[in-house]
Amino acid sequence: MTASIDADPGKESAARAAALLVESGMTVGLGTGSTVAHLLPALAERQLDIVCVATSPGTANAARPLGLRVEDFDKISRIDLTIDGADQVDPKSWLVKGGGGAHTREKIVAAATDRFVVIVSSEKVVDRIAAPIPLELLEFGLAATIAHLGDVRLRDVPRSPDNGLIADYYGAIDDPAAAAALLAGVPGVVGHGLFSPDMVSDVIIGSADGVEHRAGPHMRAGG
Ligand code: 5RP
Repeated sequence: MTASIDADPGKESAARAAALLVESGMTVGLGTGSTVAHLLPALAERQLDIVCVATSPGTANAARPLGLRVEDFDKISRIDLTIDGADQVDPKSWLVKGGGGAHTREKIVAAATDRFVVIVSSEKVVDRIAAPIPLELLEFGLAATIAHLGDVRLRDVPRSPDNGLIADYYGAIDDPAAAAALLAGVPGVVGHGLFSPDMVSDVIIGSADGVEHRAGPHMRAGG
């Protein structure tokens, strides 16, 4: 889902700064959530010649009426720039994503992207990554998967037919890399919301005082 636009100067300033990174001719990945809801009109206003890939039906449905051209991801192999929100960002640029339950698609799109730009309001910046970590779980064998994971709570949200079940992991996170490996190693986990710093090219942090633009660890050719 991409939420309706809330009056949040931090989210809006980060989104508007990120929109300025987009150039005509680019293929652009669009994230999901209330911060991305500020990005879509900012991008549309620029009237660039771009093709977009959406990470959720909600984002596609919000982007198209604004005049943004959204294509099926199946028709596109490489994305120049993706802009997406996050629930937590730590000092090394580890991310937690999936507050909106779109983290599996968001990770697939981010991994196919040359430059992955994260937009957050300043309260998303944390000293340490902590639970909850969003999960997408296959329905088959769900009880066994949950028993394997331990402290997991299923979300009480409507499920889209082509997605798994959305849940949150509440175990201790001492080391995000170890937690990511643990979650990825459990059969039945379709995707988890820990995004490695290797994926992150930029973090744009908005607040009522302005915008901070941090370079992330990831820079691919051209990124
Ligand atoms: C959705 C996400 C969102 O980007 C994340 O939850 C941040 O959301 P918001 O911008 O609404 O605070 O990962 O799956």
